[in-house]
Amino acid sequence: MTSSHTDETVIYLDNSATSFPKPEAVYQTLDHISRTCAANPGRGSHKLAHQAAIQVLQARMAVASLFAVEDCSRIIFTTNATQAINQALFGLLQPGDRVVTSSMEHNAVARPLHALQEQGVIVDKIQADACGRITLQQVIDACTPAPRLVVINHCSNVTGTTQPIQEIGPWCRRQGILFMVDAAQSAGAYPIDVQSMAIDLLAAPGHKSLLGPPGTGFLYVAPGLSLRPLMYGGTGTLSTHLEQPEQMPEHLESGTLNTPALAALAAGIQFVVNEGIGTIHHHELMLAQRLRQGLRQLDKVTLYGPDNTTVVSFTVEGLDPAEIGFNLDCEHGIAVRVGLHCAPDAHRTLGSFPQGTVRVSPGYFNTEQEIDQLIHAMTVMCSA
Ligand code: ALA
Repeated sequence: MTSSHTDETVIYLDNSATSFPKPEAVYQTLDHISRTCAANPGRGSHKLAHQAAIQVLQARMAVASLFAVEDCSRIIFTTNATQAINQALFGLLQPGDRVVTSSMEHNAVARPLHALQEQGVIVDKIQADACGRITLQQVIDACTPAPRLVVINHCSNVTGTTQPIQEIGPWCRRQGILFMVDAAQSAGAYPIDVQSMAIDLLAAPGHKSLLGPPGTGFLYVAPGLSLRPLMYGGTGTLSTHLEQPEQMPEHLESGTLNTPALAALAAGIQFVVNEGIGTIHHHELMLAQRLRQGLRQLDKVTLYGPDNTTVVSFTVEGLDPAEIGFNLDCEHGIAVRVGLHCAPDAHRTLGSFPQGTVRVSPGYFNTEQEIDQLIHAMTVMCSA
């Protein structure tokens, strides 16, 4: 594995927030495409605009291929998963519609749903267990009467808990209920197949496990499903019409896209495909298990969530998570994320509200030695 770790003094263990470092090809592509394909994609007939459009198309095809999407025009690019989720929820739901969701959602889902609730959408939450898991049976029970939409966080950003979307999606499809997946933490980290999982809406960032740059994300919209646009504007097509074009992706994709970032996202996806999602997962899981094993030796530590995920969340008796994060950063050069991780409901579910946890999220470029340094730092802190 090759990376360009520019700051050797920092041990970066905050990959659930954004992956870092990126594969070398991502940096190279950002630079190369910024210099060579700088024209506006789809906004001119000159060669440079055409080359830029090809870069965007290739990125769209790379995303489509990874998630088994047959028609890449059903992928719209967004600036992050949050924008994709907002487009899906505000584009679909109307007052009187009912939505079933879970108690493990990130604010990226919880807040738009709350805003929609104030406009007359009915929101029902399934209570996950203390490890953050929900079951298909809970979904079935919550879906009487049938809601318009079930929206579920595939993988918790707090604990890495995954939900059985491969069971929930096909069941929803059989009932005629739309199924949306927030794949913010799982896109690139777990195999996702929109066909076999019967996913109608899939929202994800490009900068996490897909290893692309910040400012990238996407929404998949199943064929036949039409959303109201969140944004209206120039698409480079049908310019004589004041109405937003109906065809995808232009229907939901107004304004100039970030060609270098999308080309770099494609490079990140290529890296994931070349290495293999399974290989990457295996490495991250090995690091997480090593950390759990080390933390279990410390009396004052409480671990949260299942013990087989790639994300380790913990608290230390008598210490505020914020204090631990500050100490790790300043004394040991270790970057983790502490607090509520924009997922207060998840922490309520896990029993770590309101102080939150210390979250450690290793990435593919982390090493066992780095995990050992973290264990050492926590041993020192716990014995002080
Ligand atoms: N949602 C991201 C996180 O969990 C930013 O840190």
